[in-house]
Amino acid sequence: MSRVILSPQHPLSAGLTGDSRLVRAYRGERSDTTPVWFMRQAGRSLPEYRDLRVGTRMLDACLDPAMASEITLQPVRRHKVDAGIFFSDIVVPLKLVGVDVEIQPGRGPVFGRGYSDAAAVAELTSIDPARLDEASGPITEAVERTIAELDETDNGSGTATPLIGFAGAPFTLAAYLAEGGPSKDHLAARTLMHADPGAWRALMDWTAELTGRFLRTQVLAGASAAQLFDSWAGALSLADYQAHVAPASAKALSFVHDLEYETADASGAAVTRSVPVVHFGVGTGELLGAMHRIGVDVVGVDYRIPLDVAALRVGAGVPLQGNLDPALLAAPWPVLEAAVLDVLSRGRSAPAHVFNLGHGVPPETDPTALTRVVGLVHEAGA
Ligand code: CP3
Repeated sequence: MSRVILSPQHPLSAGLTGDSRLVRAYRGERSDTTPVWFMRQAGRSLPEYRDLRVGTRMLDACLDPAMASEITLQPVRRHKVDAGIFFSDIVVPLKLVGVDVEIQPGRGPVFGRGYSDAAAVAELTSIDPARLDEASGPITEAVERTIAELDETDNGSGTATPLIGFAGAPFTLAAYLAEGGPSKDHLAARTLMHADPGAWRALMDWTAELTGRFLRTQVLAGASAAQLFDSWAGALSLADYQAHVAPASAKALSFVHDLEYETADASGAAVTRSVPVVHFGVGTGELLGAMHRIGVDVVGVDYRIPLDVAALRVGAGVPLQGNLDPALLAAPWPVLEAAVLDVLSRGRSAPAHVFNLGHGVPPETDPTALTRVVGLVHEAGA
């Protein structure tokens, strides 16, 4: 694939974030201490988020650049985490190309209909995914506003704070699309996969391009890393994952794998590096090796499998991200503290470790617990 060099103003090209704790860990290097951020750090656990969101629907908030940027920055200011995660949602690219979707509070993404057979898939995939690029203005603007502020930050590591862009993996999106909304076991998607492999492939191919373009937009606009969320891939057998899902996830990532930046290595020699990519799913203990092999730099691990075991499954040399059980955020400090230290110690099995939760921050979390975890990780993770 031909290479695209990020603009000289991009935080990676400009030398602002390339040696941050986060980006160094994502390329397998350890720094002064272990970097930490939290999935769903931007959101309902923060009173300043709840105040700002009053009267604005979730997807409207995502498409308001000033609001999305402000919400992204809130946890960076408050917790001194080592990265911002762009405030958006996995269904935003679908919304932007005209798919009838909303996010219902307490429920998640709900579509005007389900796409669970060949006719429905044909209708959906008649939309050209390239249309996203014309509709992405609010995403680009929100990322640009965010990095303009992040470039001015210094969280103690002597670099600017990087922004992580993200997208939903094709299977996780298809799990919502096929069902028409949230479901426990994603049966409609798993049925379509086998009942009509042609329609399934068409759905996955289309979704891969759409979500890949969403991720690319965020990186081009200034994100310093990219995370693909395959939250519901844990519903699949390894065989189904490899045959019916992994190729589409690889296709989605092809939209960022060609993006590179020029910099200098530790000895001052000129090097070209690619933008680091993380791959995360829930309940994916059996899939970790396959999720790495689609071609990612870092594997995100949920709380069901200890990091030292995950390190054996993905193989030597792969940086890991994770994996404190979010339930422990509500436990008394001595319990939480011991769990954080255990995660840090098991994370030493990997060449580099980015501390995170095994899934998102629960909305009822006391934000002071998160701030305290950041302090402990920075102190004990050195
Ligand atoms: O801080 C961050 O992590 C950045 C923002 C972010 C959101 N969604 C904001 C959001 C990210 C990375 C996502 C990704 C996302 N969205 C995933 C993958 C990550 C994961 O959690 O597994 C999935 C599966 C979705 C779909 C989705 N959107 C769900 C299941 C929900 C929760 C529904 C609910 O109300 O409990 C949403 C809504 C959503 N996305 C909220 C936020 C802050 C809550 C909406 C609100 O505050 O009103």
